[in-house]
Amino acid sequence: MAQNILITGVGGFIGSNLAQMLLDEGHEVFGVDNFSTGTEENVAHLSAHSRFAFHEIDIASVGFRDIFQGVRFDEIYHLACPTGVPNLVTLAEEMLHACSFGTYNVLDRARNDGAKVLFTSTAEMYGQPEKFPQDETYNGNVDPLGKRSPYEEGKRFSESILATYVRKYGLNARVVRVFNTYGPGMSLNDERVIPHFLKCILEGRPLRIYGDGSQTRSHLFVSDLLAGLRIAMEKGTPGEAYNCGGGNPIPIRELGELLLELSSHPHGIEHHEHFIEDHRGRLPGVEKIETLGWKQTISLEEGLQKMIAHYLPART
Ligand SMILES: NC(=O)c1ccc[n+]([C@@H]2O[C@H](COP(=O)([O-])OP(=O)(O)OC[C@H]3O[C@@H](n4cnc5c(N)ncnc54)[C@H](O)[C@@H]3O)[C@@H](O)[C@H]2O)c1
Repeated sequence: MAQNILITGVGGFIGSNLAQMLLDEGHEVFGVDNFSTGTEENVAHLSAHSRFAFHEIDIASVGFRDIFQGVRFDEIYHLACPTGVPNLVTLAEEMLHACSFGTYNVLDRARNDGAKVLFTSTAEMYGQPEKFPQDETYNGNVDPLGKRSPYEEGKRFSESILATYVRKYGLNARVVRVFNTYGPGMSLNDERVIPHFLKCILEGRPLRIYGDGSQTRSHLFVSDLLAGLRIAMEKGTPGEAYNCGGGNPIPIRELGELLLELSSHPHGIEHHEHFIEDHRGRLPGVEKIETLGWKQTISLEEGLQKMIAHYLPART
């Protein structure tokens, strides 16, 4: 049955892909964004759709309470938060505002409408992990005063508000802890590793690696993440968190070498000193979301080929 669904952060990479999927499923989709890290371009193609409505607003502002008056939301996907490693410094306060005032505003609207909620938290809430893989019972290792804390602690605070609203008000809300995800719709100015490498290739220069490249990451293609968000919204238990991420972690240097090979890029790799403390590795334990019926379907190589076809069509 068609539902009214609100997406916060619809101008971002995941939000715009999610909106397209929900429109394709036949829902009425409402989106908000303040374009702090998202783009108007991501919303432009959605706005052409008769079942899509957009409001430009900061979710942390008082005005958020008045948006889309007269509409009762059945579901809310709460994604809005500035992302990106350089923004840990430049948008630190905005991250904290989105994760605190913003999350309160979104959950209050959900309470008011009786909407189901899914909040996208992050693998970074585990901080510098001491346990591999990280499953949902691991409480993490975060420095509350460190430079990464506006994002890490912000997301943890949002999780705490959500759990409180579930316990206190019976809100039907769950958390998905998103691990590194990539796909079309990412800005190439995004400092996340795959778009960053693609930008180097597009500009005809060596891939830039911060540190020695031995730090590992696992990667998930966006369509697999969207399937995880849908299944967690549908079947996830209120107040619970579900990791969603890719298997087979790969050192950043090997990832760069694989991309060089797939794109036939001749300029190699160069190493630079890291500008902020990096996490050595991250690996999602995904058994919990798998019990809901989720499974990764797209391998890293297949996903990278899709990225090359999208961003570097001349190389396919
Ligand atoms: N992509 C990943 O690998 C990844 C990993 C972990 C967690 N996540 C989480 O998933 C969500 C979506 O991530 P993404 O990759 O699409 O990032 P993104 O930066 O592309 O999207 C986030 C969107 O939220 C918007 N936004 C930020 N603050 C806002 C505010 N106060 N009011 C309204 N809009 C605001 C931004 O402008 C942007 O469009 C985020 O919550 C992020 O923390 C993503």
